[in-house]
Amino acid sequence: MAAASIHASPAQQWGADFFGTLNELPPDPVEGIGHVLDAMSVLPAFRDARSWMFRGLKIGPGSSVLEAGCGNGSALSDLGSIVGSKGSIVGIDPTTAFVELANQRASQQRINARYQLGDVRSIPFEDEYFDAAFCEKVLIHAGPASAALNEMVRVTRTGGYIGAVEWLPHFLISSRNPDSLHAFNDIFRRATYDYLVSGSLAHHFNMAGLKDVKTEAFLASTDDLDSHPFWRAFIVNQLPMFVHAGLLDQTVGEAFLADIQELQARKEFSASFIIHAAAAQK
Ligand SMILES: C[S@@+](CC[C@H](N)C(=O)[O-])C[C@H]1O[C@@H](n2cnc3c(N)ncnc32)[C@H](O)[C@@H]1O
Repeated sequence: MAAASIHASPAQQWGADFFGTLNELPPDPVEGIGHVLDAMSVLPAFRDARSWMFRGLKIGPGSSVLEAGCGNGSALSDLGSIVGSKGSIVGIDPTTAFVELANQRASQQRINARYQLGDVRSIPFEDEYFDAAFCEKVLIHAGPASAALNEMVRVTRTGGYIGAVEWLPHFLISSRNPDSLHAFNDIFRRATYDYLVSGSLAHHFNMAGLKDVKTEAFLASTDDLDSHPFWRAFIVNQLPMFVHAGLLDQTVGEAFLADIQELQARKEFSASFIIHAAAAQK
């Protein structure tokens, strides 16, 4: 995370990585990122983390819930099945294309949800408006976490709940060349705003004045690159974009891919990473 001046006003301390600038990109890469988000959202470990968090939010039929940094609404069906037709779901996100897709998804699935433009650090709702508020894979990209959490706390009613799901994009992948694996993992360490935030969720929740803070870790793991669409979509298909963005040397990237594809063919492939979830009461 970029160091902030101790004299800076709160808004001057705000920062984000490329996920805060998606409106400036052409439609194709944003659409591609949306597909990766879709694949990620149904990876069993992410679903397990999200389900754990939803249980911690104590939401049920009729609840009103805010998803801050909702992306293209990939959590909608899981959430809709919990809050039901009497519940209400609101999502905010600064990326116009994602908000449009999320609204389309809500009307196709006939779920009572509305998505609108907004920033987690300045949520366009009044105090105590929701029963619960959460974010998933957002604190790693935009913050500081304190600004985001303080806003989620502000718009949640007293006695309501706040949750977060975050991950550490550090992959342990079978590789016969450790340097190329380090180069792959370095992409995310260098490109994310607050790379390590998932390990400090309890601290951030306590600092936001929340009570009864609970956290849990979830392991995403596979021994087959094609066991779920996420693995190939994230590890293989995004590499040209990382090379194009100057985050990975092309030769190193190609060697890395050739190595893991050969290990996959030999049934010697493995990949894993860790996800964290937190939930607490206001
Ligand atoms: C990795 S995506 C996660 C999206 C969604 N939560 C999901 O799990 O699929 C990160 C999201 O954060 C959004 N974002 C970036 N800066 C933000 C900010 N300041 N406030 C709220 N969302 C932000 C991006 O537009 C993007 O949709």
